[in-house]
Amino acid sequence: MAVQYSRRPPSSSFDSDSHDMNRAPGNYREREPPSDDDDAASDMSEDLVEIPSEDIPDYFQERGGRLFHSHGASPYPLPVDAEEQQRQNGLNTLLRRLIGDFSVGPVGEVLADALGEQRRVLDLGTGTGQWVLDMARDFPRARFYGVDIVPIATRYPPHNVQFEMHDIKEAFRFDSASIDFVHARMISMAIRDYGALLPEIARVLRRGGLFVSSEWGRRPIMVDGSDLAVRAPHTSEFFTAVRETLRERRGIHTVAPGIPRLLDDSGCFVNIVPRRYYMPIGDWHTDPELRELGREYREMVELYARSMRAVLIEGRWAADADALIEGYIQETWRVRGMVSVYYTVHARRV
Ligand SMILES: C[S@@+](CC[C@H](N)C(=O)[O-])C[C@H]1O[C@@H](n2cnc3c(N)ncnc32)[C@H](O)[C@@H]1O
Repeated sequence: MAVQYSRRPPSSSFDSDSHDMNRAPGNYREREPPSDDDDAASDMSEDLVEIPSEDIPDYFQERGGRLFHSHGASPYPLPVDAEEQQRQNGLNTLLRRLIGDFSVGPVGEVLADALGEQRRVLDLGTGTGQWVLDMARDFPRARFYGVDIVPIATRYPPHNVQFEMHDIKEAFRFDSASIDFVHARMISMAIRDYGALLPEIARVLRRGGLFVSSEWGRRPIMVDGSDLAVRAPHTSEFFTAVRETLRERRGIHTVAPGIPRLLDDSGCFVNIVPRRYYMPIGDWHTDPELRELGREYREMVELYARSMRAVLIEGRWAADADALIEGYIQETWRVRGMVSVYYTVHARRV
């Protein structure tokens, strides 16, 4: 069962269309009755129910001053509050600059107008939904669906966008062969078994439909091939602690480099094209564009490191969590030549 957000307009006392994640759950105000204008834009089916505004706080829980999802089954460890939303939106912009587009792969070809048929795009673990909103502007005739276990995307999207609550471990509500493009970015911590997701993605994709996955490698590397543990020992320790704690406490493994193989093994995809991009951490690069990118990305890295505190305090490194985080952040200012590896892969449905 998927859940659509209520499309009721905000009351005058609560004008923002996004939720203030720094408020404690339970502080959201009630909204006005639905307006007729919204009906034309909704895409209801028997499997879709609306979340009343007053139920929204139930999808969050507070721990240590940060807000997290309250979904019992998802291992996803990061907060979903204002700071984390700032990180997601910031990365969305920086990744577009790094790869030169909103997505790798033959997106224009797959979403080209087809006589009498509206193209349909499904974004998994959509978060704030910024990728969907940007794409929906570029492809105004296509229909976009963004699904997540927390309602942090806008409740007032444009006419061709629908955000829904859905656990990606469950079957999608969409018919077989009804989707043209499935997009999955930075969802590797949302599921324990990435390979198990692929048959359901393949089911909803039409023949020739496009799947695009993009994930960060679990630790940075040195661009000149030197040893991270020597050049940036605190960074290396931070990522070892994160990787081991995710594995031991949450059953989450590093998957990014292995996704092309999983696609191939599934037997459902062809034209599998893996790529790697290198995002500079800090403003050390000689190319002015990459130097600026690295300077802005460093801010996202700092937000990530602080969000990862929630993971580190669960495991063997709990007592050292703050020192590990600060050590890593210090090195992002000092060590030149450190890059994050961004793995993308695109493939077509057989
Ligand atoms: C790192 S964020 C990425 C957001 C977005 N894809 C982007 O690229 O900006 C991961 C998202 O996955 C969502 N998530 C975690 N477990 C999930 C699940 N089982 N089903 C759907 N979404 C999930 C989280 O709530 C979070 O919004």
